[in-house]
Parts: sequence; structure tokens; C-alpha cells
Amino acid sequence: MIQRDSSRTGTGSSRLAPRVGRSSLRRRWQLPVASPDPAAPAIELRNVSKRYPGLPPVTALDRVSVRIDRGEMVAVVGQSGSGKSTMLHVMGTLDQPTSGSVLIEGIDTSALGDDHLAAIRGRRVGFVFQRFFLLAGVPILDNVANGLLYTGASRPQRREAARSVLERVGLGARMQHRPNALSGGETQRVAIARALVHEPAFILADEPTGNLDSASSAGIMDLFGSLHAEGRTIVVVTHNEQIAAALPRQLQILDGRLEQDIRTGAA
Ligand SMILES: Nc1ncnc2c1ncn2[C@@H]1O[C@H](COP(=O)(O)OP(=O)(O)OP(=O)(O)O)[C@@H](O)[C@H]1O
Ligand SMILES: [Mg+2]
Repeated sequence: MIQRDSSRTGTGSSRLAPRVGRSSLRRRWQLPVASPDPAAPAIELRNVSKRYPGLPPVTALDRVSVRIDRGEMVAVVGQSGSGKSTMLHVMGTLDQPTSGSVLIEGIDTSALGDDHLAAIRGRRVGFVFQRFFLLAGVPILDNVANGLLYTGASRPQRREAARSVLERVGLGARMQHRPNALSGGETQRVAIARALVHEPAFILADEPTGNLDSASSAGIMDLFGSLHAEGRTIVVVTHNEQIAAALPRQLQILDGRLEQDIRTGAA
């Protein structure tokens, strides 16, 4: 059973859980991807809009242009419903814009098919979702190791990588726990471990400290700080003003528009 919130996810669920077999996924993972341009920004949105049809239709993103350089750490802030999750999903190619382009390391993703997008996500992007996607009856060690199922790594290799990343997030003593036997902060750290297990260059985190006390939030932000210090590009959606103010850059979203792009001067 998948432990997930059944409310709307803000993205096409078919992309989150493609109904294809394991060998086909492995082939996708191993597809050659056009070489990234080393001089290009990590992520660039060019005039991106996302409209959801319906009565009434919703413009979740409205002509957003932004570039995020490699190694940056950026907060995304804005009211509930302003388009933050949508922007993160579009940046990570989980969702496609209605118009405009998304470039990942200089590669225009609108020109790529689903298989190539899956390969980019699989190799380059680590998502920490606003709602967790953990298998309820499965020890967290395997929940994390399963993130490497399609890489061709053997089971012992997958488990070793999972062990190491769970230790890094401070869950070395909880590896055999099921997700329902963890606290909220621990569950959040499993979600982060799962996002990190394939050593992604970009980490896109949607409210990784939502519903956590301040000590747990600080622990998680310290972890992101050390990942940033390793040179990874990190985008964090947060409602927490203190967290946002402590990051070097803040994107403020209002009604789907990029209202302000602030360099805070924080380290
Ligand atoms: N699949 C969808 N179909 C229709 N409308 C959607 C869909 N997903 C999101 N929306 C709408 O798009 C807008 C932006 O949603 P989004 O999830 O990006 O907001 P958010 O800023 O992340 O909010 P929160 O802080 O509550 O997580 C909202 O008005 C939402 O209702
Ligand atoms: Mg959201």
C-alpha cells in the first residue's frame, strides 16, 4: 500500500507513478541524454505558464522567467495556492508547462520525450515531495534502496547506498522501522534520504520542514546546508520566513507570478 495523501497533488499523477514494467524503466534510466552545457545555468524557466483546465481554469504559473545557477541555494515562498509546488514540479520536469520553456543544464526539455525526461530526473534530480511517497509496510532501508531499483545496481549495492544515506540524515538507528513507526521529522528525513540516494545534482524540496518543530526544522536545514556546501543546487519551498531569510536567495511567488527575486546576502 502506498502511503500518500489522496488530495490533489498539483501534478499529473501518471508521471509520478508511470505504469510501466521494471525493465522498461531500467532502459529509460540508461538512455543517453544530450550532453549538458557546462556553462549553462542549472535550471532556467523562460516565460513559463501552467494552466489547468476546468471551471474555472487555473493559471498556476503566469509567464515566469528565472535562472538558477549551479550550486545556488534558493527559497521559494508565497501564499498557499500561489504556484510554488507547480513551479518546483515544472523545474524538475515532473510536469510540463502549457507554454514557455524549461532548460536543465542548457538542455531544452520541451524537445525531449518522456523517456529522456525520466532519464534526466532519474540521474540529476532529487525530489523531496510535499506529500510522502513511502511504502507503508516496508522498512525504511528498503524504501530508500528502492530509489535505485532502475539503475542496474545490485540489491546489496542498493542497500549499502541506502544505509549510508540514512546514516547521513541521522536515521542509522531506525533502518528497520516501517514508515508508520516514525515521527514526522524522521519521516521527512526518510523522504530526503530517498531523494539523495542516487546522488542528484539538484535537490528540489517542497516544504521539507512543514509540520516540524523548530529543532527538527533546523536539523533538516543544516543537512541542506551541508549538501549545498558540497556544491549541489538546492531549491526549497517553504512557508517559514526564518528559513527563507537564512537562504542566499528568495523567489517570491504571488498568484503564479514571480513577484520578487531577492538576494538576501545570507551565506
Ligand atoms: N491538478 C490540478 N488541477 C487544477 N488545479 C490545480 C492542480 N494542481 C494545482 N492546482 C491549482 O493551482 C494553484 C497552484 O497550486 P500549487 O500546488 O502550485 O500551490 P502551492 O503554492 O504549492 O500551495 P501550498 O502552499 O498550499 O502547497 C492552486 O490554485 C491549485 O488549486
Ligand atoms: Mg505546495
